[in-house]
Amino acid sequence: MNKIIRDRLGRTVKDLRISLIDRCNFRCTYCMPKEIFDNKYKFLTRGQLLSFAEIVQISESFLSLGVEKLRLTGGEPLLRKNICSLVRELKKLKTINKVSPEVTLTTNGLLLGDMAKSLKRAGLDRVTVSLDSINQEIFQKMIDKEFNPEIILANIDKSVNAGLQVKVNMVVKKGVNDSQIIPMADYFKRKKIHLRFIEFMDVGNSNNWDMNFVVPTSSILKLLDKKFGISFVGKNAKSEVADTWLYKTGESFGTISSVTKPFCGACSRARISSDGKLYTCLFSSKGYELKEILNKPLTNEEKVTQLKKYFAQVWNERVNKYSAERFTNNKRPIEKKIEMSYIGG
Ligand code: GTP
Ligand code: 5AD
Ligand code: SF4
Ligand code: SF4
Repeated sequence: MNKIIRDRLGRTVKDLRISLIDRCNFRCTYCMPKEIFDNKYKFLTRGQLLSFAEIVQISESFLSLGVEKLRLTGGEPLLRKNICSLVRELKKLKTINKVSPEVTLTTNGLLLGDMAKSLKRAGLDRVTVSLDSINQEIFQKMIDKEFNPEIILANIDKSVNAGLQVKVNMVVKKGVNDSQIIPMADYFKRKKIHLRFIEFMDVGNSNNWDMNFVVPTSSILKLLDKKFGISFVGKNAKSEVADTWLYKTGESFGTISSVTKPFCGACSRARISSDGKLYTCLFSSKGYELKEILNKPLTNEEKVTQLKKYFAQVWNERVNKYSAERFTNNKRPIEKKIEMSYIGG
């Protein structure tokens, strides 16, 4: 029998985020700083990555426990070969309500242009492109590579033309790209593309996070209100990370305030790392190994059943609420947090 599971705080699991690969062709300073990721970091080998068949088995198990949305992330998920065939397989699965799950992708957009049409044809529902600046110099400073933001903008256009629904994520870092808030808002407002402003988070161990680099959502809203006039809409679903807003002229945008206004209370996200560990929080230091079950000499159906039982057990015990406790708990800080590129944004 399929049944919706709840954790110790009564939260269901709605959203499964699957990291396809821990590598990336960018080196965003807030995610994969060059000094660490080009020197000391040990990336997974191809052989350690979950196969597509394993990803489908994991997804099938989670869907039977209440998941409705599958998000493919990374690192940079488009570095994985043949991703369209994975999308196609995932779209064949069913949720508890007997419909296909929503399948979405978070990407830096560099390789998206050539793939947008085939991704759409494979059944991809939506794509979220991470882009922190439309100014070349600032863009390159954020990603620490010499690509041109125009490539990403062209690829966003190609995705829209291919019929994909597109959102853009902009992580705002004080003193680095906050001068881009208005230019980015203006550009995507004209394009009628939903842009979301994200507060820089203390995820991972390597990005030198400091509260002084965080631009609080409240400051961003003040700027936008002064320039365009804005009004509050709210969250589309209780478990959504973003608040939605409207410009006076009717276009929408969003804010993700995980530092100043945490959303752990309704957090229904589970994450699978690219080598097959389950994480119940973005700030976890411990993952639950799935390879033991995946490597057993069992039929597909038996594996799905065992995974399901294991997920239900783990979720039942879940108490995570890191962001809500960030500034209040007296516990020792987490010693070894997991990197976002490994666990999946
Ligand atoms: P849609 O609403 O379907 O577009 O997806 P989403 O907002 O779940 O996905 P996306 O990958 O675009 O997430 C946006 C950003 O919100 C992430 O990149 C993170 O910065 C942040 N975020 C997402 N999930 C969590 C979470 O569980 N905890 C915290 N603290 N931040 C999160
Ligand atoms: N703080 C906030 N957002 C981050 N992302 C990566 N690292 C951080 C961080 N430290 C975002 C990316 C992308 C998504 C997957 O995660 O910009 O949009
Ligand atoms: Fe790559 Fe995304 Fe991390 Fe930037 S934020 S380094 S694009 S995974
Ligand atoms: Fe969920 Fe953990 Fe993020 Fe809170 S900090 S919203 S519990 S992933």
